[in-house]
Amino acid sequence: MPGDVTAWAATTHAAVTEALAHPGVQKDKRHWRAFNAGEIPPDWPLISWIIAENMLTSDGEQHTRLRKLVSQAFTPRRVEHLRSGVVGIVEGLLDGMAAEAERTGGVVDLKPHFAQPLPTTVISDLFGVSRQDRGELHRLVGVFFDQSITPEAAMATFFELWTLLTALVAAKRAAPGDDLTSALIAARDEQDRLSEDELIWSLVLIISAGYETTVNLITNAVRALLTHRDQLKLLDSGEVEWSTAVEEVMRWDGPGGFVPMRYTTGEVELAGVRIPAGEPLLLGYGSAGRDPERHGDTAHLFDITREDTSHLGFSRGRHYCLGANLARMEVNEALPRLFERFPGLELAVPVEDLPPLPSIIVSGVESLPVRLG
Ligand code: HEM
Repeated sequence: MPGDVTAWAATTHAAVTEALAHPGVQKDKRHWRAFNAGEIPPDWPLISWIIAENMLTSDGEQHTRLRKLVSQAFTPRRVEHLRSGVVGIVEGLLDGMAAEAERTGGVVDLKPHFAQPLPTTVISDLFGVSRQDRGELHRLVGVFFDQSITPEAAMATFFELWTLLTALVAAKRAAPGDDLTSALIAARDEQDRLSEDELIWSLVLIISAGYETTVNLITNAVRALLTHRDQLKLLDSGEVEWSTAVEEVMRWDGPGGFVPMRYTTGEVELAGVRIPAGEPLLLGYGSAGRDPERHGDTAHLFDITREDTSHLGFSRGRHYCLGANLARMEVNEALPRLFERFPGLELAVPVEDLPPLPSIIVSGVESLPVRLG
C-alpha cells in the first residue's frame, strides 16, 4: 500500500465471502497492531479511511447505531423520488455532449462531460450542496481517492473537505431544507442522535462513496460496451435488459478495487490461508468478480447473457452498500439514454491507451475520449 504499509489482500470470491462473515475480521482500527505501535504516520495518505468515525469503520452496536440513524434519512422512497430528476440531468448532459462535440469536431471526453457530473449533481442535490460549492466538493472528493498525491496534499485536501462540510452543516442547521444533510442533523433514535463529528464523518463517507464509485461504474460500463459491440446489439434489440448488463459490468469491471480496511482480532484462516492477529486486510471486490472458482472458465469474459450475474461489488452482509439502489437507478437511467442518443458512439483512442486511475480503492480510467458519431 502507499507509504510501504503492508496489508493482506483477499482476492478470491471464497476469501472475500469468508472474511465478510468471519467474527475474527473486524473494522475497528484498535485491532491493528502496527497502528497501535505508532508505525502508521498521521500523514499516511489513507489515514482518513482509518480514523474515520462512521459506519464503514465501525463494528457491532456502534455500526448498527450509525447505520440506523443514516438509513433513516436515506430511505428507498427518497431515492425513488430522485428518478425523474435523474432523467432530467441525463438529458441535459447529453445536450451538453452534443454541443461539446460540435465545438471539438466530434471527440468528447465522456468522463467529465457525462459520467462525473451525473452522480455529483445527484448527490449535491440530495445533500443540499450550493451551486458555488459543487465544483470544489467534486475536486476534493476526487483527490480523496488518489493515492499518487503527497501526504501533505492528502492532509490539506482532507481539512478543506472537513471545513466545507462543517460549513454545510452550519448552514443547514440555521436554515433546514428538504435535503439529506438537514435530515441527518434531525435524525434521532429516541434520545440518541449523531454527534457533531459523526455527522461530518457520515457526510464524508456518503458523499465520497456516492461520487467516485458511480462515476467509474458509468465509465467502465461504456468502455465495456464499446469494446463488445455484439453485447451492445443484444441491448439495442431488447434481447437483454439494461439492468442485467449493469450487473455484469459490476462483476466483470466494477468500480470497487480493494476496500480499506479490516483487521484480524485473532489468528484467522480465510480460504485456507492463515493470517496472524492484528493484521490489516483489504477485500478485493473487483478480483472476486473474476474468480474462475466462482464464475467458471469464462469468468474473464464480459458476457451479459451469462446465467448468473451475481457479484460482490456492493459487498454483502452488515456493510452492504447503503447507496446500491441509488447507484443502480442512476446508471440504469443513464446508459440506455446515452446509447439511444448517440447510436454511433465509439472510442476515440485504442482501449489500451486509456490511463488507469492511480488508486487501489476504485478501479477505472482517468478519461474516456469518445466520438459521438
Ligand atoms: C456503483 C457504485 C457503488 C459501489 C460499487 C459501491 C460499493 C460499496 C461497497 C463494496 C461497500 C462495502 C465497503 C466495505 O465495508 O467493504 C459500500 C458501502 C457503502 N456505500 Fe457504496 N457503492 C456505490 C455507490 C454508493 C452510493 C451512491 C452511496 C451513497 C450515496 C454509497 C454509500 C455507501 C455507504 C454509506 C456504505 C457503508 C455501509 C456500511 O458500512 O454499513 N455507495 N459501497
